[in-house]
Amino acid sequence: MIYFDNSATTKADPEVVSTYDKVSEKIWGNPSSLHQFGEEAFNLLEQSRKQIADLLGASQSEILFTSGGTEGDNWVLKGTAIEKRQFGNHLITTAVEHPAIHNSMEQLKQLGFEVTYLPVDEHGRISIDDLKAAIRPTTILVSIMAVNNEIGTIQPLKEAAEVLKDYPKIHFHIDAVQGIGKGIQDLIMNDRVDFVTFSGHKFHAPRGIGFIYARRGRKIAPLLTGGGQERNLRSGTENLPAIAAMAKALRLLLTDEKQKVTKEAEIKQRIFDHVKQFPLVTTFSEDNDGFAPHILCFAIQGVRGETIVHAFEEQGIYISTTSACSSKKHLASSTLTAMHIPESLSTSAIRISLDDHNTLAEADEFNQVFDKLYDKFKLLSA
Ligand SMILES: Cc1ncc(COP(=O)(O)O)c(C=O)c1O
Repeated sequence: MIYFDNSATTKADPEVVSTYDKVSEKIWGNPSSLHQFGEEAFNLLEQSRKQIADLLGASQSEILFTSGGTEGDNWVLKGTAIEKRQFGNHLITTAVEHPAIHNSMEQLKQLGFEVTYLPVDEHGRISIDDLKAAIRPTTILVSIMAVNNEIGTIQPLKEAAEVLKDYPKIHFHIDAVQGIGKGIQDLIMNDRVDFVTFSGHKFHAPRGIGFIYARRGRKIAPLLTGGGQERNLRSGTENLPAIAAMAKALRLLLTDEKQKVTKEAEIKQRIFDHVKQFPLVTTFSEDNDGFAPHILCFAIQGVRGETIVHAFEEQGIYISTTSACSSKKHLASSTLTAMHIPESLSTSAIRISLDDHNTLAEADEFNQVFDKLYDKFKLLSA
């Protein structure tokens, strides 16, 4: 079995699962309780928060736990809209965001907010001039993803940060769900960013846990109100086993990050060099450092993405159409659509997404299977 769908989710690491189990069994108190079980749980909660903060070069108070990427994105966008609505009603994002951003923006539009979607070029990348031109006196937030989940484009985050230094009141948010552990932490945790979204299950932690980085002094309204956990900003009894497990997973992820990224890039390169020789193949991801090392998206002209995915599955290789969210809906990729790729081609796209558990031997096996299936694809295409 070869698992090449790590952008959809990753398999929880055994060490991480063991932390989860141990905490569930032994430190099961509620961190808000006054007695010793509560105190023990509270101490572990804060220890996990500190561990995550230290790994990212942030302060402990700047890490707030969530249920994952979708909640983090919703929270920063809607929490900013509520918090800053007396200062303005305009938000800026890109045309290639994950639905957690896109659909939150669409909901805010229904409530009277105005949204600018920055267009992208043929590589799925925004232009800094477009960003500059989009900023208005009423702009309250700019939200840009670090790494595109469908084709792997890295956005010009440092340049955006430079522009936004002239607008200190605008909240700058980065969705780093696909960017963490991919060698671009300096771009993500830059000196201007105010909020960053992270999701545990993309780096071998359990599902349903994540966190946001929120720069000290920057305010967003809570969306979940109740018992006042997370400094009154996100109510709900904390998922301590998953939080402790996520802290462990992040430490493992960022250990030897450089070597892991190099390995992923080599695997991607090996597949990229192979498939691009075939006349029916169009690659959308590139093999340069403007793209993440772990995502490779390409189309086989005339064959539907689902057909390709199932053909590989029959050979024990698990890949996806461009994103897990769109695949069951049989929708054309929103990123490829924003890049003006015709639907006839974008519906033939597939995504390979790697992590450091994959190997070059798996790339070789993928390439061999690709050769075998290509004849079938040629017939289908004709
Ligand atoms: C870029 C990006 N943002 C947000 C999310 C949503 O994260 P979660 O699955 O943790 O809700 C995803 C998930 O694929 C993603 O790729």
